[in-house]
Amino acid sequence: MGQHNIMVKICVGTACFVQGGADLLLYEDFLDPSLLRICTIEGTSCLHCCKTDDQQLRAPFVEINGVVHANVTPKRLIELLREAQHA
Ligand code: FES
Repeated sequence: MGQHNIMVKICVGTACFVQGGADLLLYEDFLDPSLLRICTIEGTSCLHCCKTDDQQLRAPFVEINGVVHANVTPKRLIELLREAQHA
């Protein structure tokens, strides 16, 4: 059974915003309406993930159903939401 309410928090803190988070805020332009319908998407202040020294974990960060993802591009956001939809 698929998921019907996916909670999405797009970080709009400074580090995330300047490293691609601003593009993610245009999500309505690139998300399929069927996907958009089952998502609750909101901006959030810094998730405090940008302070890490781990170079693999880079902004922008997005939290989906309580799990934080790094390096999220619009394409990756769609993939993550499809995965959450079918979880
Ligand atoms: S600005 Fe996004 S995690 Fe800090």
